[in-house]
Amino acid sequence: MRENGWQPWWPGNPPALPGLAPIIGHRGAAGRAPENTLAGLREAHALGARWVEFDVMLTGDRVPVLIHDETLQRTTDGRGRVPRHTAAEIGALDAGSWFGPRFRGERVPTFEQALSLVLELGLHANVEVKPATGLAAATGEIVGGILQQVWPASGPRVLVSSFEREALAAVRRTAPQLPRGLLAGRLPADWASALRELGCTTLHLDQRRLGLPRLNELAAQGVPVLLYTVNAADRARELLAAGAAAVFTDVPDVLLTAQ
Ligand code: G3P
Ligand code: MG
Repeated sequence: MRENGWQPWWPGNPPALPGLAPIIGHRGAAGRAPENTLAGLREAHALGARWVEFDVMLTGDRVPVLIHDETLQRTTDGRGRVPRHTAAEIGALDAGSWFGPRFRGERVPTFEQALSLVLELGLHANVEVKPATGLAAATGEIVGGILQQVWPASGPRVLVSSFEREALAAVRRTAPQLPRGLLAGRLPADWASALRELGCTTLHLDQRRLGLPRLNELAAQGVPVLLYTVNAADRARELLAAGAAAVFTDVPDVLLTAQ
């Protein structure tokens, strides 16, 4: 673990998370610009976010790109499954028009393009490993390997999360010094053993499926809980007051101006 790194959670030993901000732009700033695009990362920064979350999946030729769905049609003018297309094919698609004419021609960025921009903007990043079916370990290894090469040891923070435990294990094998977060919808019954076995620092959960008493309990145990997706300022205030370490939002401007 690097010296300034975030240590894994351990019972009785809550990790300090220097540099974490309470408000994280979700998929860039998904309510203000097309999700998982360079325009979205720029927009999050322009709106005042200092942390951004985005999703990373492998193309058929094993290039990590920013996209949420395993199929192309919701967020691009392409069709079919991401792993059935090459990076060149996916890179030629329009990933902006669906959101609004102003974003026409916006591309699906590669992970490396996104990291360059994030570092240029001085943003901290939560990289969500979002593997296509059957590619959890490969995606974790490739994402971990790239971060190992390009992410500076000092400077902005990076936190790697995934719903896929196999992907987190692969990130750990490839780049053990990177802090990791376990993602789930509902709080898993085995959350404590899972955090420990995977050496995770943070727990990321769906705010709609976690009651405030349970959030209080987790916070009391020193577990940094990050909650998605919170687009109302009063709800963000409530969750942060109840002990959430951070919330993910599509509209960073709304939450930041209300702080
Ligand atoms: O990482 C938080 C959140 O993005 C997880 O859900 O489906 O938006 O990637 P999803
Ligand atoms: Mg995500």
